[in-house]
Amino acid sequence: MTNTYILPEWNRLLGEIKDNRGIVFLLGATHSGKSTLTKFLAETLSREGEKVALLDGDIGQSIFGPPTTLSLAFLPNPTESLGAIQPHFRYFIGSNTPSGHFLPMIVGLKKLVDKAFQFGYHITIIDTTGFVSGGAAVELKRRKLELLQPRHIVALQLNREVEDILHGLPPGPAHTIHRLPVSPKARIKSPEERQAYRQKKYAEYFHDLKEYEFELKKVRLWGRHYLPESNLANQVAVPGLLIGLNDAENFSLAIGILQELNMKEGKIRLLAPPTNQKEVQILQFGVIRITPLGKDQPVAFGQ
Ligand SMILES: Nc1ncnc2c1ncn2[C@@H]1O[C@H](COP(=O)(O)OP(=O)(O)O)[C@@H](O)[C@H]1O
Ligand SMILES: [Mg+2]
Repeated sequence: MTNTYILPEWNRLLGEIKDNRGIVFLLGATHSGKSTLTKFLAETLSREGEKVALLDGDIGQSIFGPPTTLSLAFLPNPTESLGAIQPHFRYFIGSNTPSGHFLPMIVGLKKLVDKAFQFGYHITIIDTTGFVSGGAAVELKRRKLELLQPRHIVALQLNREVEDILHGLPPGPAHTIHRLPVSPKARIKSPEERQAYRQKKYAEYFHDLKEYEFELKKVRLWGRHYLPESNLANQVAVPGLLIGLNDAENFSLAIGILQELNMKEGKIRLLAPPTNQKEVQILQFGVIRITPLGKDQPVAFGQ
């Protein structure tokens, strides 16, 4: 955080969050500084003795990583560097953009927010994707706000990028909208920089891989492109495809990389960081494959 330029509004916001603890929802276009402000709020509040949970809801430019996954981290108190924290719960989406994946985004966010609350974290800061423009984005963000009922909505805007979302919210005592300017230090990253950032996050996550084999009949297989009864099973047999290894609650134990799906033998082989295989109840096929060079590439499935 050493190079972070702290706007006077940020310190005021800290005070208002401490006066009224609850969910803090960051809203803003890509490059508006959401993740920078999220980290500042989480680190400062934690250092000041608050119990803070950080929910990384950006499945593309994730703070914690790996991309494709929502992560919830409980901050140590006093905090170490955010980079050193291992998320306590993860929810696998399987895509690096929310388009086409609104339902898992909504379900996962809600389940993670509930976890933070169950564990006694009364301040949960939610970083989000910059997907804010157009009807579908406005719909997704409004429904998230409807479901999660944040106390604080922090809107970072250069112009009026998130006003369409905010206009949909009835006034009331339940939430405060904090309209903040974009920091003059906020910088637009090129698509190449964003790809390189994701690549680094995958590399960190996948640095130590083990091979696992599962019998298909012993696990439940999720993903809308795997429907054996409808003859849609073979289309996910894409080496490199990301696969969520999920527990009985459908939280992610690990993210794996598909090696082979052998329908005839009823077996699936994948690589994943060390995981307790016995806990894996659900395997969820994603829609992204990791190329041999470590880049992520969307896979175009039939339907
Ligand atoms: N207040 C700030 N001080 C210094 N750099 C900033 C600040 N806000 C944003 N940046 C820089 O601008 C870029 C985009 O900010 P980021 O927080 O990643 O935006 P978002 O999460 O909304 O996409 C990053 O490189 C970040 O370091
Ligand atoms: Mg961000």
